[in-house]
Amino acid sequence: MPVITFANSKGGSGKTTSALLLANALALGKPTAIIDADPRKPIASWKKKSDERGTFPANLTVVSDVNEDNLIDKIETLKQLNTFVIVDLEGLASKMMSYAVARSDYILVPCKEQQQDVEAALQVLGALKRDFQMLNRNVPFSLLFTMTKYVKSRSSRAIVDQLKATTIAVFQTEITERDPYSQIFMRGGTIYDLKGVVTNIDKAIEEVDAFTVELIDRLKQTRKAA
Ligand SMILES: Nc1ncnc2c1ncn2[C@@H]1O[C@H](COP(=O)(O)OP(=O)(O)OP(=O)(O)O)[C@@H](O)[C@H]1O
Ligand SMILES: [Mg+2]
Repeated sequence: MPVITFANSKGGSGKTTSALLLANALALGKPTAIIDADPRKPIASWKKKSDERGTFPANLTVVSDVNEDNLIDKIETLKQLNTFVIVDLEGLASKMMSYAVARSDYILVPCKEQQQDVEAALQVLGALKRDFQMLNRNVPFSLLFTMTKYVKSRSSRAIVDQLKATTIAVFQTEITERDPYSQIFMRGGTIYDLKGVVTNIDKAIEEVDAFTVELIDRLKQTRKAA
């Protein structure tokens, strides 16, 4: 079953947020596991809050006791039990990225729409390509713009348009900067628990749906191409 890894060695690019939004969306319908491969354990801490408030989603498994020695074994075991396995890596270059890449079916590189962030993301794509050479295996990957503004500045628009015009794969869906996406880390639970609690939650849910549908489409396309 597909393994989707969120990788970007630049800290604070939106990996954990996008990974958790996707995991919660997938878990609405299918058994889904998320591996918290960041030693600071942001997803384990989200799980603790969710458990305390009784808002931890059914169908979701969080695994956080991972390290370089056991990451591949954990992925293999979770693949047997879940329809989707998501890996959230830390924001540092580490061997974990290569191990996760070795077992991934799709890699998402979350990136803010700022010049320095795009340059850092391009370096990550370079590192991924070296991993593919080492493994003698290509894994489909795509940039995912995160924390984007609803109303874009001229420079952000130029950066995004410039990239979308290259052959580098870029997700059509962007993860906009939205309060509910950071609120779930403070209060536990999912964006679906915020229906009727915060304003504009429907827009957030629509966006995460579109992101999830695009990912599933891309997984299907890559399977067809294989
Ligand atoms: N789409 C978003 N809307 C609002 N806030 C966001 C969004 N994405 C990320 N954030 C906030 O930005 C900060 C960094 O995000 P996040 O932790 O997801 O990045 P990361 O790439 O996982 O970071 P690290 O490299 O440290 O693991 C967090 O405070 C998070 O709440
Ligand atoms: Mg993170």
